[in-house]
Amino acid sequence: MTTPVRVAVTGAAGQIGYSLLFRIASGTMLGPDTPVDLQLLEITPALGALEGVRMELDDGAFPLLNSITCTDDADVAFGDADVAILVGSMPRKAGMERADLLSANGGIFKPQGEALSRSAKKDVKVLVVGNPANTNALIAMNNAADLDPGRFTAMTRLDHNRAISQLATRLNSQGESVSVNDIKKMTVWGNHSVTQYPDLSHCEVAGKNALELVGDQEWYANEYIPTVAKRGAAIIDARGSSSAASAASAAVDHIRDWTLGTPDGDWVSMSVPSDGSYGVPEGIISSFPCVCKDGNYEIVQGLDINDFSREKIDASAAELVGERDAVTELGLI
Ligand code: NAI
Repeated sequence: MTTPVRVAVTGAAGQIGYSLLFRIASGTMLGPDTPVDLQLLEITPALGALEGVRMELDDGAFPLLNSITCTDDADVAFGDADVAILVGSMPRKAGMERADLLSANGGIFKPQGEALSRSAKKDVKVLVVGNPANTNALIAMNNAADLDPGRFTAMTRLDHNRAISQLATRLNSQGESVSVNDIKKMTVWGNHSVTQYPDLSHCEVAGKNALELVGDQEWYANEYIPTVAKRGAAIIDARGSSSAASAASAAVDHIRDWTLGTPDGDWVSMSVPSDGSYGVPEGIISSFPCVCKDGNYEIVQGLDINDFSREKIDASAAELVGERDAVTELGLI
């Protein structure tokens, strides 16, 4: 048998975990020939619920699921991990100040960064999903002394997928016949927050420029961008709880493309440590267009950035710099 890939998932008994684990076990993430060992981390009070999830995973009789470990010890969960999906976090609650939010997450992502550094494989692929995802990834990265910072990424793939779907809906309402498969080179820049910038200026629809096809700058600036950025809140309003299944699906997409590669002629949005590309300050974890090949990603280079895009990319980067400065002040990085 092929050696199983060790996939660690934190917050495994939560809502996203409940969708995510079954997709991983079925082979949707790593392909139909790759067995997996699931290494699941929860806080101690949630271990009982996690045991229930393990029972359901057993009941799936997944041919690719080699083993399941349930633990409240991060070093056990991250032991020799090839992939680590960090979902468990402390999201913002009503009335919470930013410093409290960042400090609570520092209490989770600092020790988890240290544990990844001690226990995971050196080429582990880390995806932070738990919000504030970009800054949580920054905290983990800065506390993982023995790992290459480039192994740490945060999830903006849900925003990317939302941006594709909203564009297809709009073009179909204009009388075009567009499927999501026709849409290539979508880019979401910046933070996974309302300052994110879904950029249609490089996006292609069946080979044509997306913005030219839409032909409505007013809709783009005042409807499309806010709709994509605020989609999470709209889902909470409608469902009464957050977008767990689509988030799990996006996490699967992110790791699948990072591992198996992006299609020729296309790219995806990933939040990765900035190398200064496109004037985004070095070191923050920000969303860029990325191509993936042979298990590695690279930021797409050489795109023209117009004035409209410049302003939006700079605003989201400024927010990330503010978050970085706050966690620096708190002594978390
Ligand atoms: P949830 O509250 O249902 O589950 C979170 C789980 O994490 C809980 O079971 C909790 O016990 C566990 N947990 C908390 N601290 C932990 C720790 N230190 N170690 C291990 N596990 C821990 O939340 P849900 O819906 O699964 O969402 C998880 C996170 O994902 C939230 O922060 C949410 O805001 C974020 N999210 C991110 C998205 C993105 O696009 N980046 C999209 C949607 C959600």
